[in-house]
Amino acid sequence: MIEKTVMCPSCKNTITVQGNPGEKTYITCPNCNTKGVFTFPVAKPELTSAAPSAIEVHGLTKIYDGLRATDNVSFNVRTGEIFGFLGPNGAGKTTTIKAILGLIHMNSGVIRINGFDIISNSINSRKNVGYLPERVSFYENLTPLQTLNFFCELRGADKSIAPSLIKEVGLEDAIDRKVGTFSKGMVQLLGVAQVMIGNPSVYILDEPVAGLDARWVKIIREKIKMLNEKGATIFFSSHILSEVESICDRVVIINKGKLIAEDTVDNLNKYLRIKPRLEIYIPGLNGKIPEETEAIEGVEAVDVKDDTLIITCEPTVKGDIITALQNAGFKIVNIKTIEPSLEDAFVKLIEGDV
Ligand SMILES: Nc1ncnc2c1ncn2[C@@H]1O[C@H](COP(=O)(O)OP(=O)(O)O)[C@@H](O)[C@H]1O
Ligand SMILES: [Mg+2]
Repeated sequence: MIEKTVMCPSCKNTITVQGNPGEKTYITCPNCNTKGVFTFPVAKPELTSAAPSAIEVHGLTKIYDGLRATDNVSFNVRTGEIFGFLGPNGAGKTTTIKAILGLIHMNSGVIRINGFDIISNSINSRKNVGYLPERVSFYENLTPLQTLNFFCELRGADKSIAPSLIKEVGLEDAIDRKVGTFSKGMVQLLGVAQVMIGNPSVYILDEPVAGLDARWVKIIREKIKMLNEKGATIFFSSHILSEVESICDRVVIINKGKLIAEDTVDNLNKYLRIKPRLEIYIPGLNGKIPEETEAIEGVEAVDVKDDTLIITCEPTVKGDIITALQNAGFKIVNIKTIEPSLEDAFVKLIEGDV
């Protein structure tokens, strides 16, 4: 039995609930009567390399008219993790995903899902997989409920789950609206509800946050987390690292069909040793670089834009830079530190600058 405190989305009142991992509880806020459903999180299995693999890809090569869309790609997605598959447009992400799902013919390679070979045991391999394609679209003149009913029928699932799925992704207020009137983010939420039919253990989401604004990225990210907390393995692709790095247990980075890195987000940042940037505002600088800054050991690069100095440096020398500038008579009005992100690592890796 676990205890959780949940916040009412309407009045922010907090309510304590008790239940077992994976169990759903229906809550009515005693303060404002808002109704909601809460699922108790399932403890994450230890993510050691000994954990069983949900997806295994060995030596995947796919050639389109002489172009190696994927070139000897191998990686494992461990059961219970959130795995980010990252790379710029055209890197080979969708090709890899289609190969995992058995939607395209591979030139070479072996792929297993939950231990089942996708070719010799295709039915079992696909049984517990939910797939959200890259540019999801639905019939515009159906409501979300009609849409989910349609997909339930298609997959032989019980239609009675449709309203609760709509609620679970937060589309209950739009339950009777036509999908044609939905924003891109709402369509994507309906996509998430659609892949939840049948309660898959592995979700494969192709660029689920692409083209969404920051608010929707956050909402979709929360849904991905929710699925993972309920025990599912998540494999999802993205070309924008900053939008996803906060939720991934591990990432692989693919570029021009080849894997160029595989690690935890933290380790990648450490290994690449991306340095922070200092932005120092000095009125009157007018595009001139003070010599004093370049001479400091630990300073990697100094750039200037109008009255702002941009210095890439070791974190330990920030103080030396400020002192040197002040000693040289510069009047510092503002200092900002821009911490490195995986986005920087991404650029560095792709440029082969490691
Ligand atoms: N059906 C296809 N026919 C020919 N080339 C393709 C096909 N699908 C993808 N490609 C090419 O394969 C490469 C990888 O594409 P894709 O896997 O869609 O990349 P991503 O999803 O990372 O943007 C690209 O150069 C793309 O043009
Ligand atoms: Mg793609």
